[in-house]
Amino acid sequence: MREKLELLERRRAESEQGGGARRIQAQHDKGKLSARERLDILLDDGSFVEYDRFVTHRSTDFGLDAQRVYGDGVVTGHGRIEGRLVYVFSQDFTVLGGSLSETFAEKICKVMDLAVRNGAPVVGLNDSGGARIQEGVVSLGGYADIFLRNTLASGVVPQISAILGPCAGGAVYSPAITDFVYMVRGTSYMFVTGPNVVKTVTHEDVTMEQLGGADTHAATSGVAHFACDSELQCLQSIRDLFRYIPQNNLGDPPRGSGRDPRDRRDEALLDVVPDHPGKPYDMHDVISRVVDDGEFYEVHRDYAANIVCGFAHLGGFSIGIVANQPAVLAGVLDINASVKAARFVRFCDAFNIPIVTFEDVPGFLPGLAQEHGGIIRHGAKLLYAYCEATVPKLTVITRKAYGGAYDVMSSKHIRGDVNLAWPTAEIAVMGPKGAVEILFRKEIDASDDPQQVTDERVAEYTAKFANPYVAASRGFVDDIIDPRDTRPRLIDALETLQGKRDRNPAKKHGNLPL
Ligand code: HXC
Repeated sequence: MREKLELLERRRAESEQGGGARRIQAQHDKGKLSARERLDILLDDGSFVEYDRFVTHRSTDFGLDAQRVYGDGVVTGHGRIEGRLVYVFSQDFTVLGGSLSETFAEKICKVMDLAVRNGAPVVGLNDSGGARIQEGVVSLGGYADIFLRNTLASGVVPQISAILGPCAGGAVYSPAITDFVYMVRGTSYMFVTGPNVVKTVTHEDVTMEQLGGADTHAATSGVAHFACDSELQCLQSIRDLFRYIPQNNLGDPPRGSGRDPRDRRDEALLDVVPDHPGKPYDMHDVISRVVDDGEFYEVHRDYAANIVCGFAHLGGFSIGIVANQPAVLAGVLDINASVKAARFVRFCDAFNIPIVTFEDVPGFLPGLAQEHGGIIRHGAKLLYAYCEATVPKLTVITRKAYGGAYDVMSSKHIRGDVNLAWPTAEIAVMGPKGAVEILFRKEIDASDDPQQVTDERVAEYTAKFANPYVAASRGFVDDIIDPRDTRPRLIDALETLQGKRDRNPAKKHGNLPL
């Protein structure tokens, strides 16, 4: 027995060497960690249990029979984050460039199947040269096996991707289907075709960073939800996400500490909204003053900043926040903001996370670029997402709620559960100036003093419509509240909604306007 145990120990030790010390050093020299070092940081100490460490590839072509490495370039298994079960795979660039073989794919599929069966999230750490060229179509098939599982697991267990090196070609589509994508500045890249192919086909000269670096995807394409400065920060940030998300679609999200007093009123909320309706303010100031301990885990921070999405705890409850941002483009809804928020709303709804909407929106962004870009189709995504969501939905209108955007932003009409307005709210078909120009154009044109007529009519319209009382008189907002009471009122509402039961008609699936 002892001899056999020694052999096992030797082989286990060998399996942990990946592509060898030289390649691990090369990895470090690039500012990257090894596949196992990453798991050590991601998971609670000593919690990792590895599967399939003795798996090797089955190929013999192009000298591959001489390059058989235990584990075949991906470390898989389960571990814990703050004590909670999570399934993981960590691609090992030191073994054949982390390229994906048939067996490599089988290992990933195994942990994904276990995650779905046992109701636990999957975290994938990607660092790979893509399909293992020597295996040809078998490798492509392996990717498809993973894509299928990503799709079937979507909405069942949270799926999180960290891109920690190259992720190119069709390989990008696995992270793209997952719920959250993290990237690291300077060392991670995602693109369908790399700079060389781009140069050949379109004659554009681009660097890897410009084409598919972390900032490109976090700020321009929206493919990445988080751009981090280091792998350490990235992995820690993934751990932090687990403070807000549940294990699966049947579980409740984790509770926060609940230390922040439930009845805390915030005096500063009285002065956040400027007196002049055209003046911007930062919606983050509202969010941080309302949520527990001022802690807000923002998602997609650098993309479509005219809408703010992220997680927080409120009275200990995990919530998803969607908020128009008057400090950027006046908080208008455009294509990117609609798509960003729609995906976030759908994540929250799939995983039982109540949605709190802070609303200050002048409407949808006008213009040729938006109309030709399909603002109708893309704006409809956000509307659809809010309409279909059955989790508790709370809305606070801080200032503007104009036009179609009023309907979209979790209005009462689309099953908003508790809709509150601050006294500064303006709820109407459109802003006073635009409305007066349409309604009183003939009168203004015929007048000797068009400005005076306009001003009078604007004052009249503002008094009649640019306030929350008309909506409140119809029950479209449940109450008009003192802004200082926002936190206690929202917590009370969340408590009343703990037993909420709502469901959509039975169907195979809806047809979200893609
Ligand atoms: C087999 C590969 C490989 C691959 C890298 N290697 N990519 N082996 N299949 N796809 C090997 C290299 O031969 C090398 O082996 C080791 O990994 C490290 O690679 P280097 O090139 O030395 O590293 P680096 O200079 O850092 O460059 C990394 C890289 C480059 C940019 C990722 O390796 C690269 O361009 N690889 C090919 C990328 C690619 O075109 N993949 C297919 C994409 S299409 P040695 O023995 O020298 O250490 C695809 C389809 C998916 O993935 C389909 C889904 C639908």
